[in-house]
Amino acid sequence: MEIKPIRIIMNGVTGRMGTNQHLDRSITAIIEQGGVKGSNDLILMPEVLLTGRSEHKLKVLAEKFGKRAIGKPYEYTTDLDGALEGKFGKFDIFFDASGTLQRAGFIEKAVKAGLAIYCEKPTAVETAEAVRLAKLVDEAGLKNGVVQDKLWLPGFRKIKMLKELGFFGNILSVRGEFGYWVFTGLDTDQPAQRPSWNYRSEDGGGMMIDMFCHWRYVIDNVFGPVKSLVAWGATDLPERRSEDGSVFPCTADDSAYAMFLLEDGTMVQFNSSWCTRVRRDDLLTVQVDGVKGSAVAGLREVVVQSAADTPKPVWNPDIPQPIDFYKGWSDVPNNIEYDNAFKIQWELFLRHVALDEPWRYSLMEGAKGVQLAELGMQSWKEKRWVDVPELN
Ligand SMILES: NC(=O)c1ccc[n+]([C@@H]2O[C@H](COP(=O)([O-])OP(=O)(O)OC[C@H]3O[C@@H](n4cnc5c(N)ncnc54)[C@H](O)[C@@H]3O)[C@@H](O)[C@H]2O)c1
Repeated sequence: MEIKPIRIIMNGVTGRMGTNQHLDRSITAIIEQGGVKGSNDLILMPEVLLTGRSEHKLKVLAEKFGKRAIGKPYEYTTDLDGALEGKFGKFDIFFDASGTLQRAGFIEKAVKAGLAIYCEKPTAVETAEAVRLAKLVDEAGLKNGVVQDKLWLPGFRKIKMLKELGFFGNILSVRGEFGYWVFTGLDTDQPAQRPSWNYRSEDGGGMMIDMFCHWRYVIDNVFGPVKSLVAWGATDLPERRSEDGSVFPCTADDSAYAMFLLEDGTMVQFNSSWCTRVRRDDLLTVQVDGVKGSAVAGLREVVVQSAADTPKPVWNPDIPQPIDFYKGWSDVPNNIEYDNAFKIQWELFLRHVALDEPWRYSLMEGAKGVQLAELGMQSWKEKRWVDVPELN
């Protein structure tokens, strides 16, 4: 059995996503499970170097996760340039989960070092910049990818399965409700639960740039290509408290409403808000209505109602509602174990890099998400439908 090390520089791992989803639940989990099986006699085993600005934070993470996975601290350094120049040996992959506005600078450095590149979304806040980065890595002949984690959520996987089974018949519409209340930090004993830059457009924040990137790859991969959209955004809450305790004015949209018309005529709507209180099955719910059946997906669970199970309500506000609408749905069973979505995508990327397996979640695919967000903002500003041109 050959154990092939895949050496990864992990940059920006002190952040929320970098620590929780990438370092903890993906790479450390992959090492703990014994690597990724490449074939009957090949295991791909990640080896990591953590990079960032704070030596102390890196040390804490390296000790905590390294000891768990390999019995000793992971390697770490604040000298990213040195790492890219080979000070810590040769690497295969550069991964970045730093802030969106820092992404381009880091990707450019990794391109110069000739590493395969994997990074968080969005790759930029403007389409032209996202396309420039995608072309930069493509022209350098480097394997590359952007996180498109929602595709591996059990909820969307089940919707894809139902679609393939023909459960829906002709799909008519899709309605997504996303969000929850993100505290401002201004109320006593109610700290904010997301980074404050999310609410400052000058720092790369904003609901459209955050979520339309996700909606683009979800729609493209699960329902079909987007033809045009109309969107509206709002900065609902004018002030929030920052990590340093100061109060700052919010400059980014914290709610966004959009209708996406697909090429085949399907209407897909997504409401996204950090200023909404949840009274639905999950933080994201997506209802798919087809001629033969409907489904409502949460992050993990999906319920379905076929044409034959559909109740026949009568509009009468003068009596209490006689139908319990929730009772007419049945659960889609969990016939397999669903692994962490970020981890699944990491495993596919490792296989792509080491074994040349097919991969479609490139920086150019990621740029399409940035494009949808930018067009959403244009639609909002100009109060009109806009078409989604092909990116090249
Ligand atoms: N895939 C998803 O579902 C998802 C969800 C949330 C965020 N994200 C994306 O992940 C990225 C990180 O978001 P987060 O929520 O973890 O933010 P965060 O603020 O918690 O983390 C940002 C990280 O970047 C580092 N950083 C900031 N400025 C830097 C600089 N000048 N030089 C070097 N490092 C710098 C910080 O130290 C920190 O490690 C963003 O691009 C965000 O859009 C993706």
